[in-house]
Amino acid sequence: MGELERVSGLPLASFRDEHVNEQVARACRRFEVADAAGLARVLRSDEDARRRFRRSVAISHAAMFRDPHQFALLEHDLLPGLLAGGARVSAWSAGCSDGSELYSLGVLLERLGALDRALLLGSDLLEENLAIAQVGAFDGVSAAVRARVRFEQRDLAADGPPPGRWRLVLCRNVAIYMTPAARKRLYGTLVAAMARRGVLLLGRSERLIDPAAFGLRAIAPHAYERVAA
Ligand SMILES: C[S@@+](CC[C@H](N)C(=O)[O-])C[C@H]1O[C@@H](n2cnc3c(N)ncnc32)[C@H](O)[C@@H]1O
Repeated sequence: MGELERVSGLPLASFRDEHVNEQVARACRRFEVADAAGLARVLRSDEDARRRFRRSVAISHAAMFRDPHQFALLEHDLLPGLLAGGARVSAWSAGCSDGSELYSLGVLLERLGALDRALLLGSDLLEENLAIAQVGAFDGVSAAVRARVRFEQRDLAADGPPPGRWRLVLCRNVAIYMTPAARKRLYGTLVAAMARRGVLLLGRSERLIDPAAFGLRAIAPHAYERVAA
């Protein structure tokens, strides 16, 4: 897999073996090659095949207000708490895909009259996702929200967190494809980036078994507050 990792530019070792093996087997069938070495040869010479393989491993499904009950929780509970007393909120969407998660958050902040107090950053592994995110062609997103967001490339399996202390971190549906070891490292990276009393929101199928081990406490389904600085 070493050559495939190099050619694809993906941190393959951080993804669960079954997931990678399934995507490799599918790509081998599609490109009619026998094994990972053959696939690496195809990906080296065919940019479209490479892009397709990258997207298949780093599952990029996303949508505006995906899992609406989580955005209801943000709007009615988590954000009012973070914004209390006129406080500013810095929010990082880690594994933002096409940016729809961050734009949805921007829409909520605008609705709460707090957009001008917000710093909104999205990061993702794939440049091709970020290119879509930069355009931000989503219904219901104002120019003001578009002007507030910024995006950057970041490999959560290898890079540290973005500089700063983030008061809200969204990392939904990213860890599910990772190995337990990579997932643990990821949560460590996220927590290191959080401000004290900052909030981490995971996806609807993700939860921490022992939040205290990360210096967190559960405050709502899939939501955790940083208790230790
Ligand atoms: C299923 S999407 C989730 C998008 C969004 N968070 C949501 O829930 O709608 C998973 C995203 O995680 C990104 N991703 C996977 N591994 C990553 C890594 N090591 N570093 C950064 N992003 C990663 C993928 O590129 C993909 O865009």
